[in-house]
Amino acid sequence: VIHPVGPDQTGLDAPERLEEACGLARALDLEVVSAAVAPLRRISPQAFFGTGRVEALADEIAEAGAHLLVVDAALSPVQQRNLEKALNAKVVDRTGLILEIFARRAATREGKLQVELARLGYERSRLVRTWTHLERQRGGLGKTGGPGETQIELDRRLIADRIVKLGKELDDVRRTRGLQRRARSRAGLPTAALVGYTNAGKSTLFNRLTEAGVLAKDMLFATLDPTARKVRLPSGRSVVMTDTVGFITDLPTELVASFRATLEAILAADVVVHVRDIADPHSERQAQDVAAVLAQLSADGEPLPPLIEAWNKADKLPLAMVDARLARAEAQAQPTILCSALTGQGIEVLLNAIDAVAYGPVQVVSLSLDPADGKRRAEIAALAHIVDEAVGEDGLLHVRVEAPAARMGALEPYISAPGKLAAE
Ligand code: GTP
Repeated sequence: VIHPVGPDQTGLDAPERLEEACGLARALDLEVVSAAVAPLRRISPQAFFGTGRVEALADEIAEAGAHLLVVDAALSPVQQRNLEKALNAKVVDRTGLILEIFARRAATREGKLQVELARLGYERSRLVRTWTHLERQRGGLGKTGGPGETQIELDRRLIADRIVKLGKELDDVRRTRGLQRRARSRAGLPTAALVGYTNAGKSTLFNRLTEAGVLAKDMLFATLDPTARKVRLPSGRSVVMTDTVGFITDLPTELVASFRATLEAILAADVVVHVRDIADPHSERQAQDVAAVLAQLSADGEPLPPLIEAWNKADKLPLAMVDARLARAEAQAQPTILCSALTGQGIEVLLNAIDAVAYGPVQVVSLSLDPADGKRRAEIAALAHIVDEAVGEDGLLHVRVEAPAARMGALEPYISAPGKLAAE
């Protein structure tokens, strides 16, 4: 695994970046035999690295008996091909690596389709198949070189056809999911989305909060697809909680676009819980990376939902640091809770904070409508939780609903224009 430091980079965070790249490789069950930071005076358009370094790499790879070189940067198709030839080993760049992880972790139909689409886009630009395809096709790592020209032409057409077909399938799946989402909001429950840097403990916290068994592993990207569960809060009210994909540094922009739908659950939420590994020395930088992706998400002008910070892994903090962290948490502009998904510390406080933000001050309003107007009642139920309802002496259906104050605007038309009986 090589983390190159280009001529215009400081390389200050190079050791961490290298460690992260190794983590990504391990998440693919690859065994890392050698890892190094490589400062570059210039980047060669032919092979990314200069001739001297390529030769040294070739020796090292042969000596270690390695099959694969991970270059933690974006390589052009030409650079990738030339490196493979010179090194007699497979070469994967950062985008290829992340795509592969996404491909393995995708759990739902939509996630799989998104990954496949992103991968095809990447392959089309390279005119070579990505390494796993090669592996499967030719049986074994280590063989290099792209398929012949005719094969490439054929591949290109097949890829274009497949992209169109997948796009249609994805539309269908999204339509169905839109319906599901609506069915969920019909229960009138606000939603909370967990976000965070990869390995911050989102899945573990999600489990702790929902007490349901979603996959939690000490592996990057254990979560790709959002999972949604109903969570009962100490107040007796409930929210729908979703777990989202882990963020990483420098998620290639083309991937951010492909995974927008997965991330859209974040924009639709009533509250976003930013899970942070507060015991990680790079916690601050990771938080900035997450904030940058969120900002990118809301770039189209849609405002981000209110944020809560969950400072997780508090159990790993040295005792002497706990008080200082608590003081800092209290000084934050947004609600910030020091907690541990592992020990359960701070979890109830976190749930109460979610409650307060998701529901805000709740308001209860009474509406009246024609009992026969099922459509109108369904619309109201989609917006708010129906507390009780009864037909009064006036023949109208009187409905009392409860909703977060922030949602009252949406209910306004039903309040100011009460339903009339058809007979009237
Ligand atoms: P991705 O799916 O990669 O985004 O990771 P994640 O954020 O969902 O992290 P996950 O829940 O898989 O946790 C990562 C590791 O941190 C696991 O080994 C957990 O056991 C550990 N972990 C999570 N929460 C805590 C905590 O509060 N304290 C300690 N000590 N470890 C924790």
